[in-house]
Amino acid sequence: MEKSVFLWFALLAWAGVASGLEVSVKDILKVDEYDRDHRPNYLGGPTKVNVSLVIHSLIVDESRQLLELSGDLIQEWRDDNVAFAGGSYRINSVQVPATANSAIKESLWLPDLHVSRQVFPTKSGADFLRIDSAGRIAWTQKVHFSFPCKLNLKSYPLRSHPCTLRLESVGYLSDEMEPEWNGDPPVVYSSVVVSHGYSIAKVDPTSKISLAPGHKTKRQLQLMIEVAPRSGWAVKHTVIPMVATVTTAYLAFFINIRGVCARVIICMLSLVTAAIFHESTYRKVPPAHDTMAIEVFTGTCLAFIFVAAVESVVVDVLGHFPTKGRQPLSPKRNSFALEPLFSQPDLTDDHASSRGQVAAIWLDRCFRVLYPAGFLAFNAVYWVVYN
Ligand SMILES: *[C@@H]1O[C@H](CO)[C@@H](O)[C@H](O)[C@H]1NC(C)=O
Repeated sequence: MEKSVFLWFALLAWAGVASGLEVSVKDILKVDEYDRDHRPNYLGGPTKVNVSLVIHSLIVDESRQLLELSGDLIQEWRDDNVAFAGGSYRINSVQVPATANSAIKESLWLPDLHVSRQVFPTKSGADFLRIDSAGRIAWTQKVHFSFPCKLNLKSYPLRSHPCTLRLESVGYLSDEMEPEWNGDPPVVYSSVVVSHGYSIAKVDPTSKISLAPGHKTKRQLQLMIEVAPRSGWAVKHTVIPMVATVTTAYLAFFINIRGVCARVIICMLSLVTAAIFHESTYRKVPPAHDTMAIEVFTGTCLAFIFVAAVESVVVDVLGHFPTKGRQPLSPKRNSFALEPLFSQPDLTDDHASSRGQVAAIWLDRCFRVLYPAGFLAFNAVYWVVYN
């Protein structure tokens, strides 16, 4: 007898606990009495929303001047109307995976932060609501923002681009809703994946009061993200080949002045190669009228090679200057022979030499010194100015 009474008591106790846990989230939050059109604390000042962001990936779209950011946006605020007596349910928070058609998400007030000046609508994926018994709500959202970022084309690709993400409420003014960066740090990007060739140099969250239409003000959260190009890429794929091409053109000055064919071929091949590299600097950037830093470099290299080509032709013209008593050229001379840099031209024993040829050889000797000196000077100035 005693045994069965004990059994009944146990069964009743179990049923009580079970029914206590099975109260629906809707009942706990008293959603039926909740008016989602009133923002929390609407009688007592602005609704404060704590915002933090975890950046997972960042894509720099150079041709469209866009930054695509994906990560977790976490917003926390207090809503006294959903506070519940945790003790009577033996729980102190409810968690709602807020899928698109979740009834709880549909019936609660949610902050309307969005990206101002966005290019494409924000894509938001899964989100999650956590509500504790004191009425604190934490809303985690998977977001994908695309926002414009004017690339710093004048110093492309050597310097970083500051890009600003701006978050603000669609309609609430600064005295109605107060979003604020919160957390330590508010923006986490330690495990971010950045598109190839870039890295994040700096992330700076700030907030300011911005002007909304109609002389009203809104509180705007700003996030300055500085994306820095890895300059090694440009150096490897443009600067080193260009320097090699200019050096090749320089070799033409060492070819005998009678080998005009070899000289012009070297210069022309260098010119074509340099022109290809020059054009390829445009491959990724928008067709802007800004002169890019890399363009200044490749353009100057092109100019140097062009000067070398012109010099070769001038030397040839001088060498064929008609003079009296001209005799056939010495058979010793080979058009591909390199002349020693600082030796006297052996014109003294070459009786066939005209004054034109002397001038040509002196021109060559001048260029052998001036050309590399000019190129080094340009490089010194360029890398000081752009670094
Ligand atoms: C927001 O952040 C402030 C400062 O850290 C804190 O005092 C406040 O409780 C937070 N609000 C919510 C709703 O979490």
